Amino acid sequence: MSRPQSYSFQRYLAAKERIDDRALHRPTLDAVAAGLADVAAARGEVRVLDVGGGLGSMLRRLLDWNRLPDRVSYTLVDRDEASLERGYDRCVEWAAESGYAVEENDGDETTADLVLETQTERIAVSFVAADAFDFLAEVEEPWDLVVAAAFLDIVDLDSALPALLSALADDGRWYFPVTFDGETGFSPTADPALQARIVAAYHATMDAQERPGGSRTGRELLAAAPEFGGEVLAAGGSDWVVTPPYAGDEAYFLHHLLSFFEQSVGEAGDVDGFDAWVDERHAAVEREALSFVAHHLDVYGRLRE
Ligand SMILES: C[S@@+](CC[C@H](N)C(=O)[O-])C[C@H]1O[C@@H](n2cnc3c(N)ncnc32)[C@H](O)[C@@H]1O
Repeated sequence: MSRPQSYSFQRYLAAKERIDDRALHRPTLDAVAAGLADVAAARGEVRVLDVGGGLGSMLRRLLDWNRLPDRVSYTLVDRDEASLERGYDRCVEWAAESGYAVEENDGDETTADLVLETQTERIAVSFVAADAFDFLAEVEEPWDLVVAAAFLDIVDLDSALPALLSALADDGRWYFPVTFDGETGFSPTADPALQARIVAAYHATMDAQERPGGSRTGRELLAAAPEFGGEVLAAGGSDWVVTPPYAGDEAYFLHHLLSFFEQSVGEAGDVDGFDAWVDERHAAVEREALSFVAHHLDVYGRLRE
């Protein structure tokens, strides 16, 4: 596809779904599913909170892959209302195609927004447009699982972790997949030294004092979770690897990702040669000739006893 004139964050999130599908660390996900099965056996309905849930990709994926118990109350919180609206529509469409009976409770605040049912399953889904930390401060309900996918690297880890962990029930679990962990690569490159400077500058913008989050949050999480009362039960790499021939909307995903470089490294104007580098990377996507790699960690745990 040719270089887009404008970008849509929802399209980026939708394109990212299949890349995350490939990337997610299966042994960690297996541990999450086993933990949820234990919780379900003990208390029946399992309460899941998905912070920064975006389009609800994780909910649809967990259902598609049979990783959720039969009775679930699933709450998606995101401060971006447009993403949640798109997520609602995608969920309704996906559920109907997947054989669920779908009940929509538009405007009724006493029930979930959507109830998805089969003969054996009942999944009640709520969509909350709010800042996740404001929501956590207001809502006293304890959660059996808190999910934060591709989220902790864009917020302040030292304040986010205690807020997320303190929202858990006593036997609650947390699952923080696709947490960025400091490696980005494009291939091929004509000038490896220039590319190394650009990637370093990109990571430095994530680590800037004035910006929450960080480029090495994945490995920081492994140490920080125990400091804030968590116990890591499973972890592994969930690297994004996009190579030609592109499938789905992967070409758009790569153009959008390069736009993140333009907004950060490009606007700072500190690296000579950036404009030509980014133009050539977009052109390589157009030729279906660019490969991309980014390193993430999936980390799963519970509260320490
Ligand atoms: C990189 S996206 C990940 C979305 C989704 N979890 C996924 O993996 O596809 C991060 C999401 O977090 C949301 N977000 C960022 N900060 C937030 C906050 N403080 N409260 C609620 N949502 C937030 C953004 O609107 C965005 O949808």
